[in-house]
Amino acid sequence: MSRQIVVLGGDGIGPEVTAAAVTVLRSVDRRFHLDLQFAEHAFGGAAIDAHQEPLPATTLAACQQADAILLGAVGGPKWANVPVAIRPEAGLLALRQALGLYANVRPLKVHEALLDASPLKRERIEGTDLVVVRELTGGIYFGRKAREGGAAIDECRYTVAEIERVTRQAARLARTRRSRLCSVDKANVLETSRLWRETVTRIMAAEFPDVAIEHLLVDAMAMYLVSRPRDFDVIVTENLFGDVLTDEAAAIAGSLGVMPSSSSGDHGPALYEPIHGSAPDIAGQGVANPMGTILSAAMMLRHSFAQEEAADAIEGAVAKAIAEGFLTRDLGGRCSTAEVTAKVVSLLEAHVKAAA
Ligand code: NAD
Ligand code: IPM
Ligand code: MN
Repeated sequence: MSRQIVVLGGDGIGPEVTAAAVTVLRSVDRRFHLDLQFAEHAFGGAAIDAHQEPLPATTLAACQQADAILLGAVGGPKWANVPVAIRPEAGLLALRQALGLYANVRPLKVHEALLDASPLKRERIEGTDLVVVRELTGGIYFGRKAREGGAAIDECRYTVAEIERVTRQAARLARTRRSRLCSVDKANVLETSRLWRETVTRIMAAEFPDVAIEHLLVDAMAMYLVSRPRDFDVIVTENLFGDVLTDEAAAIAGSLGVMPSSSSGDHGPALYEPIHGSAPDIAGQGVANPMGTILSAAMMLRHSFAQEEAADAIEGAVAKAIAEGFLTRDLGGRCSTAEVTAKVVSLLEAHVKAAA
């Protein structure tokens, strides 16, 4: 049974980091016989250049038929002035919505060897192990947008059903971990946040009495995340707050370049992508950190293909590469993307041989 993976490199460093992750996946495939098949498709600014739209119908159809999707990143200064409706970022939002990918899981685990790569004090961040579950297909990202006279409008809307389903995903994930959930909102000001808090409270009491729940306001959370990150297990929050808090969380990990994610819905293929963007400032130099995308590929093997052992092998190889100092510039190292990738592949092969 072959497994079809659609690869959307996108723009900037996107194709560099997806190529690295595909190299790692091919190596794992040789050892674990996963029968992975890869098909690349145009997406983002690259698709605007070739087809005048960021999410061509052929790309969307390929994604809908895939078993899983690996995405790099989209966007960049080249497309800053194209009409908003067909900007690279609009293609990404359209893809998430078309596939119903409402739960975006962004784990953060601090690696011992990266404690000094973080701008934060090591004694504050050591041992941090949390996951942010970001609602991905609702909220202010998808509300009505308009210009009226001299004003601009971005509507923020959440339905009870949208809040319930992402809460359930986050609470189920908490059950597999330390059974603690922290819901983040701005219920002291926003009506959508009051509905969010009410709904989370009701679902947790009725369906997850075994999971401890706390509610925090997003401004306080922005501070707690860097002052006491170890206190959190699973964090669930709306689309925009989750976007901002996870880039903040990347400072704890040492770099945006190491943060992976998965996005899934109730049906159909899930999508895996690093949380960073196309990094136009370093694109084309061969120095992008591929670890976030490689770790996203590990999440794919675990969640889409139930290949726990292969996923563990990738994560173990990345951890070892970090411990041995094979780091790109963003982490204070001197390695290129290709050198880090080759190291991960060689550690994977050594690991599999040792286990055989
Ligand atoms: P960014 O994440 O691209 O870059 C922020 C900083 O982090 C830059 O200094 C960059 O060099 C660094 N960085 C990011 N990833 C890295 C990696 N793998 N290795 C080393 N350094 C890395 O954010 P930005 O500059 O604000 O946005 C650039 C473009 O990317 C924009 O068009 C934005 O819309 C887009 N974007 C896309 C996605 C996505 O496709 N999912 C996510 C975020 C931003
Ligand atoms: C991310 C990005 C996207 C988002 C942008 C590019 C639309 O920042 O994936 O985190 O805000 O969701
Ligand atoms: Mn973001």
